[in-house]
Amino acid sequence: MPQVLAVDGGTPVRRRPFARWPVWDEREIQAASDVVSSGQWWAPPGTQVKAFEHAFAEVHDAAYAIAVANGSIALEVALRAAGIDWGDEVITSPYTFIATANTPLLVGAIPRFADILPETWNLDPDAIEPLITPRTKAILPVHLGGEPADMDAINEIAERHGLLVIEDAAQAHGARWRDRSVGAIGDMGTFSFQASKNVTGGEGGIVLTNSEEWFERCWSVHNVGRSRAGGWYEHVVLASNYRLSEWPAAILRVQLSRLGEQATVRSARAETLKAALSEVDGLDPLPGDPRVSRNAYHIFKMWYAPEAFGGKSPDTFAEAMRAEGIPVSVGYAEPLHRMRVIVERSLYMAAQLGLPEPDQPACPVTEDACERGLWLMQNVLLAEQEDMLDVARAATKIQRAWRS
Ligand SMILES: Cc1ncc(COP(=O)(O)O)c(C=O)c1O
Repeated sequence: MPQVLAVDGGTPVRRRPFARWPVWDEREIQAASDVVSSGQWWAPPGTQVKAFEHAFAEVHDAAYAIAVANGSIALEVALRAAGIDWGDEVITSPYTFIATANTPLLVGAIPRFADILPETWNLDPDAIEPLITPRTKAILPVHLGGEPADMDAINEIAERHGLLVIEDAAQAHGARWRDRSVGAIGDMGTFSFQASKNVTGGEGGIVLTNSEEWFERCWSVHNVGRSRAGGWYEHVVLASNYRLSEWPAAILRVQLSRLGEQATVRSARAETLKAALSEVDGLDPLPGDPRVSRNAYHIFKMWYAPEAFGGKSPDTFAEAMRAEGIPVSVGYAEPLHRMRVIVERSLYMAAQLGLPEPDQPACPVTEDACERGLWLMQNVLLAEQEDMLDVARAATKIQRAWRS
């Protein structure tokens, strides 16, 4: 007899939550308190933002960093610094957080969506080239869930067509592609420090680059159009105030110091989880790309096969898993190339510019990932090794109940 599922009133596989997030102790409290007593609460005269920029750049092998208020703004600063403007086009993934696609729209450019790979849910390089037009200015790959995209192929395509590459590394702190840190493999890269991210200040963002020119431009854009050499009331480009304040920077410095150890734990737990799930038919971790030297595991990504679970939908399965104490979610359920706010604005802009309607190719892998992709978030991977086995136990329990 299969066990009664927790969703049907049975006893859950586990009641204990996985690891608490964010992780903090006296060090974060001291860091915040030090900012208060320093009396320097904002970046221009302060020390925290500058020190954090330096540390974050160093961890990611980047020459320059510009800290900003959040990850969406980091993208905006990079796009504005790159001169991406009204009527330009940017090629990106349709399987990502909306900010990756609405930021181009907010600066006046039209996002074009290339499909993703089933092994990683990152941009499929073969899908990029057919989308390139004379208006294309940049490729915006996303390192989805902390797993680096194929930066060799993307940089090669960009170089051949004279395009910029801006990495959306919002979810990929410390991730490495063929032994190179993400963020400065392309022309610029952006990160988020929003509450769920592997390095968090509650909110926050940063732009990395190895180019002095992009650095100077980003610096101007993030600081109301000032230039580093110019006066306080001298504004050389039209831009807003996107600066990060000293509070999150002080906390972020401590959080960053925890990243190495946490990344090691997440990687080890991910391996245990993969081994445990290899016993579960129909719940398959993504195989990934063997050239990835470090997956940051912001999201542990899985394919769900309804036919292995009595035909039950991914939503129903995720609900049953949550009842068993496993915080599974269905992740992005709507592809961005079909999201109304994105489509309507893109069509409006094309019409204003007298351009034909953007010809959006089908993105079958994206559709599939939105339909039957499942996620576990990074804090699950910070729990103990034996906790990983509960994920497989819960899935097996549900499978037996639904197959009987
Ligand atoms: C892929 C991606 N890009 C951009 C962002 C935007 O970052 P933020 O929430 O800090 O504005 C996020 C954040 O969730 C994200 O996941």
